[in-house]
Amino acid sequence: MPLALLATAVVVTPIAWLWWDSRLPDSYDITQMGYADYGGGPEAGHEHHAGHPGTPVAELVERSRRPADVTETLTAARDGDRITINGTSPGPTLRVTQGDLVEVTLRNEDITDGTTIHWHGIDVPNAMDGVAGVTQDAVEPGKTFTYRFRADQVGTYWYHAHQVSHEQVRQGMLGALVIEPRRPDKGVRDEVAVLHRYGSTPTLNGAEGTQTVDAQPGDEVRVRVVNTDNALMPIWVTGAPYRVLAVDGTDVHEPGEVRDVAVKLTAGARVDLGVVVPEGGARVDFGATTALVLGEDPTGGAEPKAPRTFVDFLGYGTPTDPGIDASSPDRRFDYRIGRRPGFLDGKPGMWWTINGHLFPDIPMYMVEEGDVAVFHIENNSGESHPMHLHGHHALVLSRDGKEATGSPWWIDSLEVAAGEEFEIAFVADNPGIWMDHCHNLPHAAEGLVAHLMYAGVTSSYDIGDAPGNHPE
Ligand code: C2O
Ligand code: CU
Repeated sequence: MPLALLATAVVVTPIAWLWWDSRLPDSYDITQMGYADYGGGPEAGHEHHAGHPGTPVAELVERSRRPADVTETLTAARDGDRITINGTSPGPTLRVTQGDLVEVTLRNEDITDGTTIHWHGIDVPNAMDGVAGVTQDAVEPGKTFTYRFRADQVGTYWYHAHQVSHEQVRQGMLGALVIEPRRPDKGVRDEVAVLHRYGSTPTLNGAEGTQTVDAQPGDEVRVRVVNTDNALMPIWVTGAPYRVLAVDGTDVHEPGEVRDVAVKLTAGARVDLGVVVPEGGARVDFGATTALVLGEDPTGGAEPKAPRTFVDFLGYGTPTDPGIDASSPDRRFDYRIGRRPGFLDGKPGMWWTINGHLFPDIPMYMVEEGDVAVFHIENNSGESHPMHLHGHHALVLSRDGKEATGSPWWIDSLEVAAGEEFEIAFVADNPGIWMDHCHNLPHAAEGLVAHLMYAGVTSSYDIGDAPGNHPE
């Protein structure tokens, strides 16, 4: 062989092999990909011995057979480049009461790719989590799927498609879900603010610009803000001090009053802001193009000025027992996000890595029910990532080695900026196979997706073109 050709073969062959090897099969079981990461804990219960088949995901449903307290049908339909739910986008805000057994039937009218509903932030039984190819099959046009779960966690949540989610969520397949306490705060006005960008147009509850709540001085308002976009959103209040009453659905312990500071709202995350309307009114700004005016507009309609400083939840509110002891966890996992050139499903590019690996050769985080697990999340990828763990809420322990000193900071969506590292802890109390991914959804489609898997749970579904399941 001529030398030049030989040299080419030597260079090309490994690359061709990398390309070949990266191609995803037409149908694959996510639990058969990548490698098991036990986080330093025991491996028992994870091998599937003959005679011990484990519990399939499909059986991890709500156990109570009692009739539902709330039943809803949500019909998803294509409307040009949008997807509507019951005719609108955002879809209807579902308001339920703590303890309700909720039964929602998703009907796919004509979404050709199929669709699902994921209950973002609600720790539902695994088979109700709505992830196509992991917890169910995508619902085909003309078909239905019924979700059943107990609404135990008071707070602000949202729902969205988890089939081709980087397209369907952007197209508006989403809505808010509020779980109200059994004894609601009397006399507090309750407003939901769903933020979503259609194309390049930012909207508040589906409309552009400013909206006004007819509030009087002295009125207390709780504004439940949901960031359904792929990017961080600064929000702030003009004309009045405010409190951050809740983060990702969980109440902040003794939230202090703040003024002239903004909250950085992570993609997928929620905050509830408490405002007492002063003489002259108040106004909540969402990234400077949409706003909710409470009573009068204190700016008189002037250009909004974004504060330069931000609430830091690491030290916001006051400490109280978080109900989890993370001092000697059963497992410690690394979730190190990087970026490097390579092939993803045969496509060359700069792809996200997890612990140095490209999807799907990434860790499968293995836990046993009852474990206390700590994740060390580190971001060396040069870009920010809103990380979202399904099925659990995690307590932030520290950021960049600095311990949390405020109210317990419970999250389901956490902004991990470039160069940052976090330690978060959670109790493995919800058996299943759970996604743990970036909620900048195009990043998830680019491989920034891992899973948490419980011992004794086996998969029931496949991802890929053949089953038509594409969760990202
Ligand atoms: Cu809001 Cu995996 O999703
Ligand atoms: Cu990301």
